Amino acid sequence: MAANQDSEDPEEEIPFENEIDGLLARLTLKEKVGQLNQLNGSEQTGPAVEDVDLEDEIRNGKVGSVLNADGLENRERYQRIAVEETEHGVPLLFGYDVIHGFRTLSPIPLGEAASWDPDAVRASANVAAAEASASGIHWTFGPPVDVARDARWGRSMETSGEDPYLAGELAAARVRGFQGDDLTAADTVLACAKHYAAYGEVKAGREYNTVDISESTLRDIHLPPFEAAVTEGVGTVMNAFTVFEGIPAGASKRLVRDVLKDEWAFDGFVVSDWNSFREFIYHGVAGDERDAAELAIEAGSDMDMVGHIYTNELVNLVEDGTIDEALVDDAVRRVLRSKYRLGLFEDPYRYFDDERRKETVLNETHREIVRDVARKSIVLMKNERDVLPLDDVDSIAVVGALADSADDVLGDWRGCGRPEDAVSVLDGIEGTVDNAEVRYAQGCDRSGMVSATLREEAIETVEETDVAVVAVGESYELSGEASSRSDIDLPGEQQELLEALQATGTPVVAVLMNGRPLALPWLSENVPAILETWFLGTEAGDAIADVLFGNHQPSGRLPMSFPQTVGQVPIHYNHLPTGRPQHRAEAGWGTSYLDIPNDPLYAFGHGLSYTTFEYADLELGALTIKMNEPLSIGLTVENIGDVVGTEVVQVYIHDLVGSRARPVKELKRFRKLELEPGERREVTFEIESDDLAFWTADEVFAAEPGEFDVMIGHASDDIRLTDSFELRA
Ligand code: BGC
Repeated sequence: MAANQDSEDPEEEIPFENEIDGLLARLTLKEKVGQLNQLNGSEQTGPAVEDVDLEDEIRNGKVGSVLNADGLENRERYQRIAVEETEHGVPLLFGYDVIHGFRTLSPIPLGEAASWDPDAVRASANVAAAEASASGIHWTFGPPVDVARDARWGRSMETSGEDPYLAGELAAARVRGFQGDDLTAADTVLACAKHYAAYGEVKAGREYNTVDISESTLRDIHLPPFEAAVTEGVGTVMNAFTVFEGIPAGASKRLVRDVLKDEWAFDGFVVSDWNSFREFIYHGVAGDERDAAELAIEAGSDMDMVGHIYTNELVNLVEDGTIDEALVDDAVRRVLRSKYRLGLFEDPYRYFDDERRKETVLNETHREIVRDVARKSIVLMKNERDVLPLDDVDSIAVVGALADSADDVLGDWRGCGRPEDAVSVLDGIEGTVDNAEVRYAQGCDRSGMVSATLREEAIETVEETDVAVVAVGESYELSGEASSRSDIDLPGEQQELLEALQATGTPVVAVLMNGRPLALPWLSENVPAILETWFLGTEAGDAIADVLFGNHQPSGRLPMSFPQTVGQVPIHYNHLPTGRPQHRAEAGWGTSYLDIPNDPLYAFGHGLSYTTFEYADLELGALTIKMNEPLSIGLTVENIGDVVGTEVVQVYIHDLVGSRARPVKELKRFRKLELEPGERREVTFEIESDDLAFWTADEVFAAEPGEFDVMIGHASDDIRLTDSFELRA
């Protein structure tokens, strides 16, 4: 069952359809096409596009939606023109990239994914929706639900990482957080699952590059999070810039019309990406704009973002009989349906309330919520000799330009976030400690470059203190759209700086900031403590200090594998077995490299705590289940350390024999548990045969009878309990 949240009561099947029929009958063809046109307000979030007088275009009924309109006042003025100065008064839809917050920012999505906490992620999307809607925004271009398979790809930061199940759970949580239960409520916004589909597979991690994957990778890895978003009722979907089987995603009838709209019964609308219909010409599948418009509307892509392709071509295409007007009507129906669902016909000005904006944006409750998710997103990657938490130090050196930056912590796609609202690492530490001296040395600039003076100063400061907290990683511009990197180690001379600081003998805690997995073998080998903090948003510094000083237990787990070197990329835990797996092959004949191991430096699901957990008593409800019968999986987890801690119990399965090779492990469930010292808790999961389904050799999505291993782990490379069961037809 998908999409239409409103269709449960047959009496009410698809509300507003009568109103939409009436309106469609009144609009001229040109006005209908206007509804499919989205124009830009001020800031451009892509290459320059044709400059037009936005107000005139709205007045002439040529605009259905505006993105990047600047400020509540402008939005309200544009809305008045649409409603009061056009013949039919169809309200505009205002869109904006509210990716990880509007003004109060939560961690970048990859960071939030490390929380493995759908409730926290939903709450953070809820904050974003409240602030955006209070500022006159109706529609966010989020959540991005791409599955990132290559750390070089800069947009990894926008994703929930490499796993389709985790990405699907978080996609659903974000859609719930943005849209709430009631889209007409003043504090919810229409969501947009993007970028449909398989954008995360750009070859060599290079932005906008070709995607060339199999149907089974598409179905098993990339589509599940989109389907999860659709099932949760996401209102819109955005096309990817990339091709699938040589066809640009927005021109792919199979992706858009067949899978999304027919198979999944998605009843919202599909928007292009920035000018991406015109890019069909550059891809070489359309000779001109007319071809591009025809391909897009036939494929089922409904709205043209800033390209003017639909407004330039659709009327002619219908009038000369090339396309059926019904295609245009269906697209317009979908756009109007969204406007009705948002309550815009009832009151087009309901989202313009300056009082509400002032009370809502950046309020204390929002700051608390994003601080909570920020703390939960931090991953303790390494903690030798229990350097952390810092509970017994008299002096702390804080080093690195990133440590003193309230700008970088906001990350890319920062909406209206501002550095002056944010807490840097240095501010967070200074605001938290009361009994220790804090000394700052810059050490290197934001790009990681070190001068002799900076080096000396940093060494001297570190020599004189009990511990050094060194912020290293990427400045925020190194990830995001059009920010792929071929090298994913520490930029500049940060490693040399760390080597010098490490040589002082003062214990070093590396606080990493980055929008993608980095390759950090030296760091991992030599520095005793590593805290992965991504870009944590407005409350970054406070959240980091909470974990550094043990006021919050680290509980994040990696949503994406960290390679030993870029040469291992793409690397993910859920790979297929080969015919010569290493553990089975004779020495020298297994799948391997000559120069590096196969394993990542830090695996998917990895993350430490300030305590340790013991797993026991795995019990499956049955040794055999039939199709559609659930299987219960029970176990116990005990906190065997001295402090409270949070464990993320991870359930993986392996389908031993399939009509296609099956991944060596696939995450199917997870649960976060907070346990007091010595506390032991029973945990039960239930999986169903649907959870075992995949794109079979018969080209259907189905579970196949056979043997399955169940693996319960602390991480994908740290399996603690195993058992197996059989699925019978
Ligand atoms: C990005 C989208 C974004 C759009 C509008 C494009 O360049 O790919 O993710 O929503 O711009 O800002």
